[in-house]
Amino acid sequence: MKIMVINGPNLNMLGVREPEIYGRETYADLCEKIARYAAERGAETEFYQSNHEGDLVDCVQSCHGRVDGIVLNPAAYTHTSVALLDAVRAVGVPTVEVHISDPDAREDFRRVSYVRAACVATVKGHGTNGYLEAVDLLLKRT
Ligand code: DQA
Repeated sequence: MKIMVINGPNLNMLGVREPEIYGRETYADLCEKIARYAAERGAETEFYQSNHEGDLVDCVQSCHGRVDGIVLNPAAYTHTSVALLDAVRAVGVPTVEVHISDPDAREDFRRVSYVRAACVATVKGHGTNGYLEAVDLLLKRT
């Protein structure tokens, strides 16, 4: 089982960025936590983070026929990107949408998620442990 973990814009700033919302763990801490958790359950992980929409689309496309599941936090592109929605649909790889915060409980403009329509599940508002829940959801499908 191979899982690609994709994080969108500003998630490289975890630990520094609005810690009252996103916590004090860094992006490196997050990747290490997910990798360890997945490895303990027999899954291999790969990580990608970009602040650029097209690069995120390229990464989703690169998953086609190569990975068994995607954990995707598109960050702000959640609320704007039809391109990411189309990419997830195109590759046909089971994808779980993750948000550290609960976007539905924040500003109105965060209530729309384009990518959600292509995802098998959404985990939101559970902090960075939401990524681990997403791994579990993907493992349950295999
Ligand atoms: C986020 C929520 C988004 O609304 C926001 O733009 C982010 C992070 C989250 O993980 O809670 O950058 O996806």
